[in-house]
Amino acid sequence: MANLTIDGTTYTVADGLRLTNAIEAQGIDILHRCGGNARCTTCKVVFNSGEPASMTAAEKSKLEDKGDLGEYRLSCQIACSGDMDVTGYMTMTSSGLDDPGPALSDEPPSA
Ligand code: FES
Repeated sequence: MANLTIDGTTYTVADGLRLTNAIEAQGIDILHRCGGNARCTTCKVVFNSGEPASMTAAEKSKLEDKGDLGEYRLSCQIACSGDMDVTGYMTMTSSGLDDPGPALSDEPPSA
């Protein structure tokens, strides 16, 4: 199991669960508009601690393209592991959109 802290509240979540889905499972309507393909960046999160050292090639490429490498991570590309503390996400409610995006599988891409 992994410990996921969101805005100061810690939840126990399954190891390896896609971070976007773990956040959504806590009742937070985080956006994932491109369906987990590292294209939209609406699933972004800011890591306060526990940021994974590795990154998928798709995530790295997108963050480099936007000039945002080191600013935030794409939760759709990350598996829950260990102790993670995140904030800074975008929600359907705060955006005014009527759909967070297509449902994502529970496993993030591995490379
Ligand atoms: S980049 Fe679009 S859902 Fe993650």
